[in-house]
Amino acid sequence: MQDNTVSFTALRDLLRADRTCRRFDEGRKIGPDTLRSLVELCRFTASGRNAQPLRYRLVCDAGIRGRLFTSLAWAGYFKDWDGPAPGERPAAYMVQLLDTSFGANCLCDDGLQLQAITLGATALGIANCIIKSFDRAAVKDTLALPDYLEPRYVLALGYPAETVVIEDMDGTREADFKYYRTADGVHHVPKRPLDELIV
Ligand SMILES: Cc1cc2nc3c(=O)[nH]c(=O)nc-3n(C[C@H](O)[C@H](O)[C@H](O)COP(=O)(O)O)c2cc1C
Repeated sequence: MQDNTVSFTALRDLLRADRTCRRFDEGRKIGPDTLRSLVELCRFTASGRNAQPLRYRLVCDAGIRGRLFTSLAWAGYFKDWDGPAPGERPAAYMVQLLDTSFGANCLCDDGLQLQAITLGATALGIANCIIKSFDRAAVKDTLALPDYLEPRYVLALGYPAETVVIEDMDGTREADFKYYRTADGVHHVPKRPLDELIV
């Protein structure tokens, strides 16, 4: 038997540190080798039917980053914020694609792989924002994707230029779950207490 014991505390701390970030230090580049090492983590995730239908387009190029940025919607709760300003934008993207020749449904493979990538990035000091709200046709066009590849998520990556903190929500079902930003620029993320998750 292999000994697969890793520190539970280390895993918990990594998950806790893996927060959504929407303002980055755009000047700190992320190279293709780093992105490839994050994709490698996806080889080890579980996969429905073990079909492994997900693919990734890695984007470091400034011109493509600029075009991709215009297709993305940031922080839906912040109605008066247009997303990160120049200089705060992501240094790289990973666009998760479904190879539809394996079927139109990837079950939860997409989420499992996103979590593997974001944990890996966090371990490298790189912050992320998972983005589902984007202009699909525009992303397909920007990336010149063949018809059989469907964009599922855009993962924005960069070294963080904002502070994000978790807050405990009160344990009521009516508690406000919206994230918010305070005047000091800190981004606050309410999380439900443990006892509310167990029914
Ligand atoms: C499936 C999914 C889709 C998301 N889509 C977007 C999005 O389109 N734009 C965005 O700014 N954030 C998006 N997010 C980030 C969430 O807003 C963020 O996860 C949530 O506020 C909780 O913050 P946390 O990731 O730090 O726990 C998405 C997250 C997930 C898991």
